[in-house]
Amino acid sequence: MNSSPFNAEEHKKMLRSYFNGQGFQRWASIYGDDKLSSVRNTVRQGHAVMMDRAFEWLQQLGLPKGATVLDAGCGTGLFSIRLAKAGYKVKAVDIASQMVDKAKSEAIRQGVDKNIEFEVNTIESVSGKYDAVVCFDVLIHYPAEGFAQAFSNLSRLTKGTIIFTYAPYNNLLALMHWAGGYFPKKERRTTIQMIRDEEMKRAMNKDSMEVKKREKISFGFYHTMLMNANHR
Ligand SMILES: C[S@@+](CC[C@H](N)C(=O)[O-])C[C@H]1O[C@@H](n2cnc3c(N)ncnc32)[C@H](O)[C@@H]1O
Repeated sequence: MNSSPFNAEEHKKMLRSYFNGQGFQRWASIYGDDKLSSVRNTVRQGHAVMMDRAFEWLQQLGLPKGATVLDAGCGTGLFSIRLAKAGYKVKAVDIASQMVDKAKSEAIRQGVDKNIEFEVNTIESVSGKYDAVVCFDVLIHYPAEGFAQAFSNLSRLTKGTIIFTYAPYNNLLALMHWAGGYFPKKERRTTIQMIRDEEMKRAMNKDSMEVKKREKISFGFYHTMLMNANHR
């Protein structure tokens, strides 16, 4: 067990370097259409299920056409592009320039780049206030202390809603995690950080947020909790 104190700057540096290197290759192929191993294929499918549900939730907010949405940790831009196609005005931000470059070229290819403002930046430093904020499979890379800080920043950035995913602590996931079974060893690069219910509640209370909806999405090797939280 790692008992050294959490260092936010070091952690971000590590994530930036991972997602600009090996992580970029790995996740860009999962989010793209390359042929995948059966394990990674379930991650791709589970991620697609999660995004469909998140998109449904976003539309249920009934925001007007042209409403602003921040996609925090946009990765290769899958959700940003979908939002832009649906008429939202999108700000797509990622800590890794490789991800932003890929997202931008995809948006150009699909003809929606005019509706998306791209920025290489972090959840911690991005500015503005958005009608809604989405943040998928980003907070799973932050241990409790980092999670609370990142969540606080997201709540500062939204006028109302945040739709996000995190990995809730549960025994099975903890066991798979401990046993190193979450991914086969050669495919495992980033640790999934699990958040306990009490840590989640503390983060919500601190920022005066409340849970509106939550849904567990489990598909093969993809397990996540999708949550919709609002300002109280
Ligand atoms: C697993 S990918 C998910 C990408 C995208 N949200 C999706 O679901 O398709 C995680 C992304 O979060 C980004 N990221 C991690 N920490 C970040 C931070 N503090 N600020 C902005 N982006 C961050 C990574 O660079 C990476 O692109």
